[in-house]
Amino acid sequence: MGALDGRTALVTGGGRGLGAAIAASLSSHGAHVGVLSRTAAEVRRVAADVGGTALVADVTDPDRLASTLQRFGEVDVLVANAGVVWPLGPFADVDIAAWEEAVRINLFGAVRVERACVPGMIARGYGRIVSISSGAANAPGMPSANAYSTSKAALDMFTLHLAGELDGTGVTANAVRPGVVDTGMQTFMRDQPVDQVGGQFYERFHGLHDRGELIAPSTAAEFVVDVLLSDRNGEVLDIRTPR
Ligand SMILES: NC(=O)c1ccc[n+]([C@@H]2O[C@H](COP(=O)([O-])OP(=O)(O)OC[C@H]3O[C@@H](n4cnc5c(N)ncnc54)[C@H](OP(=O)(O)O)[C@@H]3O)[C@@H](O)[C@H]2O)c1
Repeated sequence: MGALDGRTALVTGGGRGLGAAIAASLSSHGAHVGVLSRTAAEVRRVAADVGGTALVADVTDPDRLASTLQRFGEVDVLVANAGVVWPLGPFADVDIAAWEEAVRINLFGAVRVERACVPGMIARGYGRIVSISSGAANAPGMPSANAYSTSKAALDMFTLHLAGELDGTGVTANAVRPGVVDTGMQTFMRDQPVDQVGGQFYERFHGLHDRGELIAPSTAAEFVVDVLLSDRNGEVLDIRTPR
């Protein structure tokens, strides 16, 4: 018997990285998992691996997202994980359209998916939501990643307000800061030239990698799923914080 037998889960950004690991963990606990992101080949591969459903959609495309979620049906467990770390660099230099697009993905993408799922969760008296945040949400944030830090800080506040409204409904909402996880996002960050991201950023992320201190996606995924299996509500949980 799995703790999530008979439950349906949705993982945005499930095609690779942390989202793929979360999809695998949810499946191992018995959930039927919808794996949603833009790259069809990745979505299909992960969905096949976990025996779930492939959902190819962009979280910033309202019509496509709505029709995809409608086709998938009721969601009991939601992980709003889709995210991007770009654009990286000084605010005066970065492409402002990319800045806005990052906030659309990291913040509005999560808000839109949660808005689609929450009414049904409340009506059924059960739901578990985790939004994947970041340590960058805490001051001083992540240097050179202004849009990312801003969007994750807003995502934390959104989560806390939503959780307050959900109190007593059987539905919970928490944010998880998963630490520095060994995914393509970290590879992308290490690939940026030092004169674009600055010495502090460059040395921090190269150092964590070179010292073997990145967190395995499976370890971060287990932390996320532990939160989803609990009755916690309205918390911003950091994998590095001893509990
Ligand atoms: N890795 C870290 O160190 C770290 C640390 C703290 C927090 N996080 C957070 O963890 C989450 C997962 O990151 P990751 O490290 O696993 O990154 P990743 O390997 O780059 O994966 C990101 C996932 O999000 C999807 N995605 C991006 N834009 C999307 C969009 N518009 N619509 C739908 N899906 C979209 C990507 O798929 P497509 O591009 O195919 O759509 C991909 O599946 C993110 O929210 C990130 O901010 C990561």
